[in-house]
This record gives sequence, C-alpha cells and structure tokens, in this order.
Amino acid sequence: MKKNLRIGLIGTGFMGRTHSNGYSQVAHFFPELEYRPVLQAVCSRNEASVKAFAEQWGYAAYETDWRALIARDDIDAVDICTPNDTHAEIAIAAAEAGKMILCEKPLARTVAEGQQMVDAINKAGVANTVWYNYRRIPAVSLAKQIVASGKLGKIFHYRANFLQDWTINADLPQGGAGLWRMDVAAAGSGVTGDLLAHCIDTAMWLNGAIVDVSAMTETFVKERMHQLTGKVEPVGIDDACIFHCHFANGSLGLFESTRYARGHKALYTFEINGEHASIRWDLHDLNRLEYFDHRDESIVRGWRSIHVTDGDQPYMGKWWVPGLGIGYEHSFIHQVADFLKSIETGAPCHPTFQDALETQKVCEAVIDSANARSWKDTGVESFAM
Ligand SMILES: NC(=O)c1ccc[n+]([C@@H]2O[C@H](COP(=O)([O-])OP(=O)(O)OC[C@H]3O[C@@H](n4cnc5c(N)ncnc54)[C@H](O)[C@@H]3O)[C@@H](O)[C@H]2O)c1
Repeated sequence: MKKNLRIGLIGTGFMGRTHSNGYSQVAHFFPELEYRPVLQAVCSRNEASVKAFAEQWGYAAYETDWRALIARDDIDAVDICTPNDTHAEIAIAAAEAGKMILCEKPLARTVAEGQQMVDAINKAGVANTVWYNYRRIPAVSLAKQIVASGKLGKIFHYRANFLQDWTINADLPQGGAGLWRMDVAAAGSGVTGDLLAHCIDTAMWLNGAIVDVSAMTETFVKERMHQLTGKVEPVGIDDACIFHCHFANGSLGLFESTRYARGHKALYTFEINGEHASIRWDLHDLNRLEYFDHRDESIVRGWRSIHVTDGDQPYMGKWWVPGLGIGYEHSFIHQVADFLKSIETGAPCHPTFQDALETQKVCEAVIDSANARSWKDTGVESFAM
C-alpha cells in the first residue's frame, strides 16, 4: 500500500507547470517508491486562473491566498513556485506549520533572507529541497559520476555560460506578471540569481566550494517602464555578469551570463578540464556529454560524444530504450522521485536549503564584488557533493 504525500503548490506559472507535471508523472516511471504525490491543492491570486489550473492538472482544491493553503491540514508538503521576493515569507510560514518544503531557486534574494529560511527549517526539522533541477539531467548526473570517479585527474579549469537574448528591446517593461525578473525588488538580482545561480550550484556540486570571486556586471538599459506603477523607473538588475573565481581545490572558474547574447535562448554550457581528461555539456543538446581522455591511444584520441540514453547511465533505466532521448521536463520528474525517496530513507534531498544558501553566498559575493570593483570572499567553506 503506497503512502500519500499531499502537495500544496503555490504559483501557477512556468515552474508551477513543470512541477505539476513532475508530480503527475513520477509514479508511472518510479513505481517502486513508497510515497506517491497527490495533487491536493494549488494556489495563485487570480481565482479564475487558479481554478482553471486546478482543473487542467487535476488538483482537488484551490486557494487564492498562500496563507490559507499553508493552514490546510490536508497538505503535507508545500511547493513554492512564486517569484523570489515571496520565497522567505512562504517558506518560514510553511516550516512553522510543520510542512515539508520544496522551494524554487534562488533560495532567496539575499543571504540574510536565506539564512532565516535555513534557521526556520532547522528549527522545524522538516524535509526540504531546492529545485536546482539541472543536476538531474542524466548527462549532468553522468558528469558528476565521471568527476567523482577521478577519471579527470586533478582539475584545473571550470567554465560555464548561461546566455539568453530576450531583454534586448529597450521598450520591454519591468516588474509585475511575467516580468518580475526585471525588477530588482522582486528578483533580488538579474542574471546572477536567475541564471548564474544554476551554474554555481552545478559547479560546486561537481567541483567543490567557490572561495572567492571577482566580478563585473552591466545594466545595458538603465530605465524601463514599471508595469505596476506605470512610471519609467531605474533598472536595478544586472543584465549581464561575468566573474572569475578560485575553487577550494585550487582550480580556476570562469562564468558568464547575459540576456543580451543575440541568437542564444538558453545556452547553458559547462566544461571541466582536468589533468587526464575533460568533459563538456550543452543544454541545447542535453542528452549528450562530451568526453576527451588524453590516455586514449593517440591515433584514435579525440572528443567523444556520449549519447546518455543507456539503462546503466543515471536515471535512464527508468525511461525508454537505449538511443531514445528525454527532455528538460524529466529533470523535474527526477527531482520529485529523489525527494520521495529521501522521505522514505530519511536522507537529505540535495540541494537542501543549506546547500542553496551556499550558492546564495556566492551570488551575493559576485554582486558585491562587481559593485566594489574588488575581489570578495564568498564565505563558503564546504559544499555537499
Ligand atoms: N528551476 C528552474 O530552472 C527555474 C526556471 C524558471 C523559474 N524558476 C524559479 O521559479 C520561481 C517562479 O518562476 P516562474 O518562471 O514560474 O514565474 P512565473 O511568473 O511564470 O509564475 C509565478 C507564479 O506565481 C504567482 N504568484 C506571484 N505572487 C504570488 C503570491 N503572493 N501568492 C500566490 N501566487 C503568487 C503568479 O501568479 C504566477 O502564477 C522563481 O523563483 C524563479 O526563479 C526556476
């Protein structure tokens, strides 16, 4: 007999859909799990749209106030899919109500906010995870296995990009529905918290703590109409950010993110160069991991392109047959599966709030460094790998 995990999901936008899909699919592909998510209630502020969302995805009930959702005694886990400025208040209230929490990234807008969230979940002792979902794309999980196996040898370089091009138009407003990412009060930062946070989470998971950073940021369009006030207001987010850093293992990191790279929609790439071997990955070709091993016989030595679709590669035994790829949405299904497994075993589901706080520290050091035009220590001493 399966045990139910009754989900209360808050926020019905992009992530509300990916998570709802994850909960809906997981039991079909991970039938061995003891827990089964139940779509118990969903919340967003507009009644007509939340009602339609509940009907579309099969939620049993809906609410228009997140406090009412948290107050329900038929909810076991609260899933936070709302803009960044709401994460702390909702998470702290959910922890105080004794609910498990799955929170979207970045954990918060600042380290101070994130620390309060970590304190709240520690005090409540509730299960928690943060949706840095790229870890759970099978090719990225395979990269983790390869690094952990030591095949790369001593690591010298870690390089990551996250490039987009959707905010180049100076007439695009900031703030409000759909565009809260452009408003620093709602988002906390621009590409640093939105995109580089993903790169930093993956990087520290694969290569350990980032200890110090030197960054530059730019805001190319300095003023935009604010959708909520109707006034032209200064833009407070970083449109682009480039930083370099030291990892605790002695390797050097180079990171770039922008929303002004014409032609790139979501080009997340990383490359790691070690003493013996290198790996690289590209979100636009997410089922492949590139691998170069200098120890190969010289006449056949070269980059190999591993199609990560075999049953013995991470997560792939759960899907189709070798050679058939999967997509972006599967990373969320995998995270739901891993969260359910963690409840079964009592082990943490990484990245936890604590892990995400470490990523937040790097993000904050990056912004501080750019503002001060100087190197900043991150304060990250270790990272759960
Ligand atoms: N893991 C990822 O790859 C990934 C991708 C995109 C977004 N995100 C994160 O997910 C979160 C949501 O982003 P999104 O792209 O889904 O945003 P979105 O704008 O598409 O959706 C936000 C939703 O939250 C609702 N909402 C806002 N304030 C609310 C409130 N006070 N009470 C109830 N509902 C409220 C909105 O009505 C909307 O339904 C953000 O923290 C973002 O950084 C993560």
